[in-house]
Amino acid sequence: MKILVVGSGGREHAITWKLKQSRKVDSIFCAPGNAGISLLANCVNIKADNIRSLADFAKRNKINLTVVGPEQPLAMGIVDEFKRRKLKIFGPVKKAAQIESSKVFAKEFMQKYHIPTSPFKVFDNSVEAIGFCKSVEYPVVIKADGLAAGKGVIVAGNFKEATRAIESMLVKKTFGNSGNRIVIESFLRGQEVSVMAITDGKAIVPLLSSQDHKQAYEGDSGPNTGGMGAYCPTSFVNQSVMKDVNDYILKPVVTGLRNENITYQGVLYAGLMLTDTGPKVLEFNCRFGDPETQTVLPLLKTDLADIFSAVISRKLGNMSKLAWRRGTAACVIIASKGYPGKYKTGHRITGLPTGDNSSCNIFHSGTKRNGNNWFTAGGRVLGVTGVDSNLKAALDRAYRQVRKIRFEGARFRRDIGFRALKQMNRRK
Ligand code: GLY
Repeated sequence: MKILVVGSGGREHAITWKLKQSRKVDSIFCAPGNAGISLLANCVNIKADNIRSLADFAKRNKINLTVVGPEQPLAMGIVDEFKRRKLKIFGPVKKAAQIESSKVFAKEFMQKYHIPTSPFKVFDNSVEAIGFCKSVEYPVVIKADGLAAGKGVIVAGNFKEATRAIESMLVKKTFGNSGNRIVIESFLRGQEVSVMAITDGKAIVPLLSSQDHKQAYEGDSGPNTGGMGAYCPTSFVNQSVMKDVNDYILKPVVTGLRNENITYQGVLYAGLMLTDTGPKVLEFNCRFGDPETQTVLPLLKTDLADIFSAVISRKLGNMSKLAWRRGTAACVIIASKGYPGKYKTGHRITGLPTGDNSSCNIFHSGTKRNGNNWFTAGGRVLGVTGVDSNLKAALDRAYRQVRKIRFEGARFRRDIGFRALKQMNRRK
């Protein structure tokens, strides 16, 4: 098989790394990819949202299967375009991708199909939204309807903060058209976890659960980022929780969409809050999570190319159980100083292990290479994933490697997995 991976981050590096292990895969292209990915695949200089050029490339190069990493091209309809041109592609069609690209669609869909989520209201008028916020319980969550690169969710602690968020979205248009409508919803308390599932629109195969740390600083404080680290599996999702997630969330989503004449094929990512009254949906994503994927795929034993092919041919039902390595995977992200705000790039990276000479997987998010020299090229720079028999050992392994990697302004969180470690200590 000739495969094309679309995207350029740590998630796409992990997907490429996993596909590379398949005996069925002859060659991998990645568009646009990054310096780390270029060690495994042929990087092609086409942006992830240049759908027509990607389809032209796939046609010209007789690509057998394309895998889409980020949400933007999915929301723009890359799968619809590839299908129109009889090209095989893994990912949901535009209508199905609305589950992520429109928070209003997702919430109204959940309400219609009784999928557990927090109560909400939708507004397109700032005066009405502010009026509503006079009588809500704080904190309250304010979300821009459309895609906003992970920045469109604001937790407002009081009326003043809520007013500022509403005006920024609906009046100042900080997120452009993505903020034409907003969702205001109740704040949920509990453990936040991620469950991704593969589906062909009929069968649903959940992947191992994970927990990521979205905030920039220790103790899950500070601004939201794309994710500063994750681990998999998470002890917060035991068999009984997973059953609830499957029965009350994943299955109703896939059948509900089918009822709306939408076949969901691809990865369905459920961002969940485990509340006292059961798991509730915070958000859906229409793609693999990042950095979660950097921890889930290192534990997957099943051939990823087989999984993608089964989804495309709608034969996932024949594959209902995946094989997993025992143990835990923990990923620590090394980011540039200033991220998720402004940051500088072009700093030389030292201490990267060469070849396979590492006890960890090192997935690149934002790097450039010049000969044997590596440079920073993004906010999130590297993801270091350690795999070991338990969470503590996996974290120790990852942090030992992280401490050897240096560049000016390198920053990482020192407490990835702290919630699960705390729970374990309490049980002792
Ligand atoms: N880690 C969260 C996300 O992928 O959206």
